[in-house]
Amino acid sequence: MGLLKSFFTNCANPKGRMGRLMLCFMNFGHAPLTNWGLDIVDFQDEWTMLDIGCGGGATLKRLLKRSNGSRVYGIDISEESVAKARKVNDALLGKRVFVTQGSAEKLPYDDGLFDLVTAVETVYFWPSLPDCLQEVHRVLKPGGSFAIMVEVLEADSKWTDLCEGMTAYTPEQLKDLLDEAGFIQTGIHRKKPSYATILGVKP
Ligand SMILES: C[S@@+](CC[C@H](N)C(=O)[O-])C[C@H]1O[C@@H](n2cnc3c(N)ncnc32)[C@H](O)[C@@H]1O
Repeated sequence: MGLLKSFFTNCANPKGRMGRLMLCFMNFGHAPLTNWGLDIVDFQDEWTMLDIGCGGGATLKRLLKRSNGSRVYGIDISEESVAKARKVNDALLGKRVFVTQGSAEKLPYDDGLFDLVTAVETVYFWPSLPDCLQEVHRVLKPGGSFAIMVEVLEADSKWTDLCEGMTAYTPEQLKDLLDEAGFIQTGIHRKKPSYATILGVKP
């Protein structure tokens, strides 16, 4: 595998030194997309929230700031991501921040636990996305929201060539999948040049 390809494969599952570098880069590089996407959400105090594919944990910090007295949970398949997310949130770890290694396919949480679930730049890597969306639906409270944030991709873009196991979804495809999974009030928000947030609510 070429060096560039090996580096970008760390987007899907950060590992080792290159993975740690990628996590630092993503914590800063994904800030504009994440902050814009979170502005669309009508946050309330004391929410319980989950960030799936939490990477280096910057989104967990951002979520905490938007809801006073909240608790945030992060989950990621990568051991390296979990370690970094714990380190970045160490002051509140085990108190208001909880980070677990695991997959979107089988979320280790009770039904109806979360007011908000987020997924930033990660759904491209989830196996069997419809099954994962059922899991998100299961762990949300009735009236809870799911926010997917992505940079709009072309199916044959350089990213899908560079990142092994990546599937490019258009925002329209993601909205359709949310509709099929039983979400309501689904909608697509866009910001130039390439940002999209796809929202759905559990009835
Ligand atoms: C491109 S990174 C984005 C990380 C973070 N959300 C951010 O915005 O910086 C994608 C993350 O999704 C994680 N991931 C990939 N497949 C996953 C799965 N099936 N379940 C949970 N996390 C997954 C990867 O390990 C990686 O940390």
